[in-house]
Amino acid sequence: MNADLVQLHEKARAALDPVHYDYYAGGVGDEVVLGENEAAFRRLALLPRVLRGRSTRAIGVDLPGGRLDLPVLIAPTAFHRLAHPDGELATARAAAAARTVLVSGVASTVAIADVVRAARAVDADAAVWFQLYPHPDEDVTECLVRRAERAGCTALVVTADSPVFGRHRRDAEHGFHDLPPGLAAENMRDLPGSPPGHVRDIEMSPLASWAHLDRLRELTSLPLWLKGVLHPRDAVLAVEHGVAGIVVSNHGGRQCDVAPAAVEALPAVVDAVAGRVPVVLDGGVRGGGDIALALALGAAAVGIGRPVLWGLAADGETGVARVLDILRDEFDHVLALCGGRHLADLTRDLVVTRGTGV
Ligand code: FNR
Repeated sequence: MNADLVQLHEKARAALDPVHYDYYAGGVGDEVVLGENEAAFRRLALLPRVLRGRSTRAIGVDLPGGRLDLPVLIAPTAFHRLAHPDGELATARAAAAARTVLVSGVASTVAIADVVRAARAVDADAAVWFQLYPHPDEDVTECLVRRAERAGCTALVVTADSPVFGRHRRDAEHGFHDLPPGLAAENMRDLPGSPPGHVRDIEMSPLASWAHLDRLRELTSLPLWLKGVLHPRDAVLAVEHGVAGIVVSNHGGRQCDVAPAAVEALPAVVDAVAGRVPVVLDGGVRGGGDIALALALGAAAVGIGRPVLWGLAADGETGVARVLDILRDEFDHVLALCGGRHLADLTRDLVVTRGTGV
């Protein structure tokens, strides 16, 4: 793990209310997957290539919905104003300044229109994507999609790994169920079927199906990403149902605690997709080496969740900017050390399992 990120994490831990720290840091069940996401990267190594005569490197990547100057996007995480008063506005500004994508969640404490406005004030071309869960009430889903479109989002991310809420022991122990007064999931305000000003609960839909995804795709012309895919057959189905991209993710260890580490599920999904759509990986990415490993295993880019929350809690917009800077710099350095010039130079033959040599 990158030592500068560890320091930011410690600063965030000291700054945050311990209940909110545990909400961010914790995972589902016994937190097996939470630990495995990071541990699985430690079990992998990269074989550097030598004498390749290269000095400059290109690390940008084009994805459906936007261009990233570094192969790292900000994964959707909830309630940024628990971390810092500027909340998602700070995250959006830092992402735009680094010229990468913020995937802004339905569970944000700033309305999506304001998030996009903050990003575009920094960079008129900033790409902000909107993440949502299939809501049991399809009118609510449609209203959220229209809000994201009107706000100017350039892609939608549908999170599919949450038919029900994961059970988080740390939150239960603290009795953490509600946001503090003054904070709300602003995208859920004034939705169909609610009185004016009312904020609806974020709900999961156990009935969500591929048919719901089809309806969503027909509802909008925005590129549609499917997040939370681990099984290669689901990846194939996602492609058949017209998604623009797939996010291999176990929700940062917050949903199913017998799931594999995200990076361990990645190669089979990449093989199943066979280049038809890009695959992004999130879960446990904590340094430039992890990014290089994920890309070598076939990811087009990685998403980061908690490191952004630590940056935000430690130092607001500056802290998030610092996280992105650290990752950009370290990844670029690793690529140089591996003799790479382009992201495509990171290939699967470079990856070995520690202790086995293969
Ligand atoms: C999340 N994640 C998440 N994902 C999603 O699709 N919708 C959401 O509302 C949330 N909320 C959320 C809250 C918190 C506090 C965390 C830590 C995570 C999951 C997130 O998008 C991503 O998959 C993981 O965070 C990636 O793992 P790392 O980088 O945190 O290890």
